[in-house]
Amino acid sequence: MFPTETVYGLGANALNAKAVRGIFRAKGRPTDNPLIVHLRDAGDLPRVARDIPALGLRLAEAFWPGPLTLVLPKHPRVPKVTTAGLDTVAVRVPSLPWARRLIEAAGVPIAAPSANLSGRPSLTTPGHLVRELKGKVDILLLGGKSRIGVESTVVDVVSSPPVLLRAGGLSVERLQSLVPDLRVLPLEASGAPDRETPPRSPGLKYRHYAPRARVTLFVGSPQRTRQALENRRRMLTREGCKVGLLVTRESGLRGPAVRVLGSRKAPDRFAFGLFHALRELDALGADEILVEGIPATGVGLAVMDRLRRAAGDRVVDLRVGPVVSGRGRAVAQVSQKARAIPPKGVRTPETHRPRKRPR
Ligand code: TXA
Ligand code: MG
Repeated sequence: MFPTETVYGLGANALNAKAVRGIFRAKGRPTDNPLIVHLRDAGDLPRVARDIPALGLRLAEAFWPGPLTLVLPKHPRVPKVTTAGLDTVAVRVPSLPWARRLIEAAGVPIAAPSANLSGRPSLTTPGHLVRELKGKVDILLLGGKSRIGVESTVVDVVSSPPVLLRAGGLSVERLQSLVPDLRVLPLEASGAPDRETPPRSPGLKYRHYAPRARVTLFVGSPQRTRQALENRRRMLTREGCKVGLLVTRESGLRGPAVRVLGSRKAPDRFAFGLFHALRELDALGADEILVEGIPATGVGLAVMDRLRRAAGDRVVDLRVGPVVSGRGRAVAQVSQKARAIPPKGVRTPETHRPRKRPR
């Protein structure tokens, strides 16, 4: 377990199948979800990858060390368990000096997924990390709070055109300056898993980043979002639910179960606090967490991707008018469903209707 500039990682020797199996076990991670291999610097690339496309080298040169992961053709030396049987390998060079020193001391490439238990929000603070993993791993190497707060950007440079597999700490705008033909899937594709099309990156098919509480994400202007958040909070509170809020300063909302993650104009601040705040609201015992969406620009794209995955199909889109069509209709139905379904065990007038007495 070690800190990186994005989130904490749970690492082992990437070239040792037994050690890598230990990672899957400790995290409870499905074995068909491959790991990222961490290197000390780009000079070590030939140890884990081969036939590296020129674009891969250009991106490594431009953005390493840093929050960018490249999917490259795998070297046969890397065991199958590390890449979940794929013939490609995901590689990155972290920028946090501690992490690089650790890799250097180990003398081997380090396979490391985010350190959280599978499906849970990633770990970005030592306190949460100790609570979640004490006793489950051999060594906890604690740094401070992760500087970026969301995971690395994953780009497949083997495909043509190259594909953004996961938005992350390195913004798409910066990537596009070097990769103008980068394929970026619409954010909507990162909501509830789509069973019809097989995911390009195995990790994309699982529900991710989810706190214990239900998450409902609101997308729209600050005014509309504030109104919708307040309405839903009022309704849930009346029904006896504990409600947590994750909002920006612009919402004007405050209170004990409200976490304010800076301004809409500063997605970096939102990313920095995101996973920590989700876990805090869980710890307060929230049944449902209502989240104000932010613009999907810069790191905001990664933030919105994580929130959509945490929310599953519970996204309330307020950008469209009261009558919506196409995808929006599905969203409008979700918002009705969101209103109708109370959390487990909570009695509401809808779930707890007294039986009619026989006359
Ligand atoms: O910032 C990060 O990337 C952190 C820190 C610890 O470095 N690590 C991280 O790892 O987020 P993880 O395992 O949580 O996410 C790795 C993602 C998954 O979505 C996985 O499916 C994808 O990368 N991935 C790994 N190898 C791949 C491959 N060969 N092809 C496509 N996707 C791959
Ligand atoms: Mg992860």
